[in-house]
Amino acid sequence: MVSFTNLFTAGLMATTALAMPHHMHRDVHPIHKRSSTKRGAAYNDVSTVSTLSNTGTVTWAYNWAFSDSDLPTGVDYVPMLWGAKFFGGWLTAIESALSSGSNYILGFNEPDMASQADMSPSTAAGYYQQYITPYSGSAKLISPAVTSSTDTGKGLSWFEEFMTDCSSCNITGLAVHWYGDSVDDFKSFVQKAVSTASTYNIEEVWVTEFALNADTSGVTDQSTAADFVNEAITWMDSQANVTRYSYFMCADNYLLTNGALNTVGTAYTSSSA
Ligand SMILES: *[C@@H]1O[C@H](CO)[C@@H](O)[C@H](O)[C@H]1NC(C)=O
Ligand SMILES: *[C@@H]1O[C@H](CO)[C@@H](O)[C@H](O)[C@H]1NC(C)=O
Repeated sequence: MVSFTNLFTAGLMATTALAMPHHMHRDVHPIHKRSSTKRGAAYNDVSTVSTLSNTGTVTWAYNWAFSDSDLPTGVDYVPMLWGAKFFGGWLTAIESALSSGSNYILGFNEPDMASQADMSPSTAAGYYQQYITPYSGSAKLISPAVTSSTDTGKGLSWFEEFMTDCSSCNITGLAVHWYGDSVDDFKSFVQKAVSTASTYNIEEVWVTEFALNADTSGVTDQSTAADFVNEAITWMDSQANVTRYSYFMCADNYLLTNGALNTVGTAYTSSSA
């Protein structure tokens, strides 16, 4: 199940096609340890997570799937019901994740994108109620993760339509993804997400993927990306209603190079909280 899931996830994500062989180096450079309970690792390969979590600044992780395999101690696993393709294994796997201590559930991945979970708001609301809402007594429920698209029916407007059918889904957090060109655009999108969520009395916003457009297939300029990451996470750490975030992604060519933190990874794991 685990390897199928990982392969399947990898197949879904064009970016992972660029993944390089792993050479694990555990000699993380000593840096200032300041913990943020918000900061997470979005990963496909669990062996990469310890490189981030060894810094003491990363407290949770998810892998677009619902089974963890040997996450480092101290890193909370958050299961996700990616989309319809995973309904079959869900019931058994979610019970197991919850009994292993997971206390949040993430909803569908980019239902507003044809290449991702691809669901209309009303279809998604029905599935959410069927598969996720029943666990509201044992976990906090996070919404489907919408993109930052401003096209009609996508992004936050998809979420608003979804909420008209999911007002009794017991959702306590809104998940969003952002890809764009500047940290100012990033902040204004996340602010808009927080205010949209608040109209449904949802107080938590999770930014579960974010990166500059230039870096979606791997970081193109370490220094530009590190500046962006530093400013974005320092700002999110100061926003009470942004409760969790994970940069895209914990993998070689992104936060790591040859299995070790690169300049961007160092910025991600050393900024103040
Ligand atoms: C939703 O939450 C309310 C209040 O916490 C609870 O009474 C209700 O049973 C929950 N609904 C489901 C389907 O779990
Ligand atoms: C932010 O969260 C706090 C509770 O932690 C809540 O009182 C406040 O209304 C929220 N603000 C928004 C804009 O959602």
